[in-house]
Amino acid sequence: MPSLAKPLEDLLVQSGRPAKTDGRHVNLPIELGSTIVFDTLAEFEAARDKRYETGTMYYGRYGNEASFQLERALSQLDHAHGTTLTSSGVAAISLTLLTFARPGMHLLVADNVYANTRAFCDKVLTGLSVRVEYFDPMVGEGVSDLITPETCAIMFEAPGSGTFEVPDIPAIASASKAAGIPSIIDSTWATPVFCAPLTLGVDVVVASCSKYLSGHSDCMLGMIACTETYHDQIRSTVMAVGDKTGGQEVFLMLRGLRTLKVRMDAIDAAGREIATWLAEQPQVKRLLHPAFESCPGHAHWRRDFSGAAGLFGVVFHTCSNDQIRSFVDALQHFGIGVSWGGYESLVLPVTPTRTGTDWSEDGQLVRFNIGLDDPETLKADLAAALPLLTS
Ligand SMILES: Cc1ncc(COP(=O)(O)O)c(C=O)c1O
Repeated sequence: MPSLAKPLEDLLVQSGRPAKTDGRHVNLPIELGSTIVFDTLAEFEAARDKRYETGTMYYGRYGNEASFQLERALSQLDHAHGTTLTSSGVAAISLTLLTFARPGMHLLVADNVYANTRAFCDKVLTGLSVRVEYFDPMVGEGVSDLITPETCAIMFEAPGSGTFEVPDIPAIASASKAAGIPSIIDSTWATPVFCAPLTLGVDVVVASCSKYLSGHSDCMLGMIACTETYHDQIRSTVMAVGDKTGGQEVFLMLRGLRTLKVRMDAIDAAGREIATWLAEQPQVKRLLHPAFESCPGHAHWRRDFSGAAGLFGVVFHTCSNDQIRSFVDALQHFGIGVSWGGYESLVLPVTPTRTGTDWSEDGQLVRFNIGLDDPETLKADLAAALPLLTS
């Protein structure tokens, strides 16, 4: 990983809050508000002209001191020229794609993207006459052959949602650069702690802050961090659409950032411990965990990432749907629910959607999110439920 101006730990502790000597609380307060008033019309007009810029107080929808502080902190962490907050991860993805996709254009999207990225492409962009083509996420530099004069952007994820293939990030980024189009990566899984896609040549990082970045399953928020080339364009779309982040979410996200590194390190260790244990169980056919050789793209992970998140897949030997359901229902310490990246452990059976490639793994895929529980507790929980897959 390239080095930041300050050690990551220091940035996470210090950025986005008041300096230590100014006699205030260590945290910024929850900032609420719509109207901002000015003493003179000239001051009002100056703010109006710069209202899309991070730091300009003009009207609550465009941001406030706390949200600007958070945007600056995220830019530092992601090596970005600028960051724009959005109301959710889905909003970050859809508003970024909306910035580039126009009727008649062609959009390349990796076939293993998050389900709601696909839903936005298929429900909204296709309806706007954008031709969406789903490509093999492991195509690497071969993505160049798919780019046409109409291609407006390449959207991908590392690793892919549900199936965890790790693409060749620099190869895809350099193909898109050569064609003069933006590459957009969903880097929610890695967070800036484990991967810095902008330093690998990617133009735009989108992420759900509702996951690890805030980290406590109490906040919905998204972010778009990008290079200078695309920052203003994307920010204008977000502002023009009127997407808005709430003061409480910004507060919770700033608070979550302080512990991001320690949470990620603990979750990485626990995730690998449980994955290692699962790999030894007779019911398990294959681990889809980027830090393990059995995961497609493991070599890319080793080259481009400095750690692994606690979300991974397990392919169980073929059994009945009823057995999978009984297994999941029997787990006492894993909650059943969407999302991930909080302190709690979760489990969910997954059926991958593919339209550009095949996902032809025999067996049943289950996704685990390892939280901050004691790994021994989780192993005991799994050990008690696994026999249901063979009985
Ligand atoms: C990889 C990925 N990106 C984006 C999102 C969407 O984030 P949000 O729930 O904040 O809209 C999710 C949510 O599950 C996700 O898994």
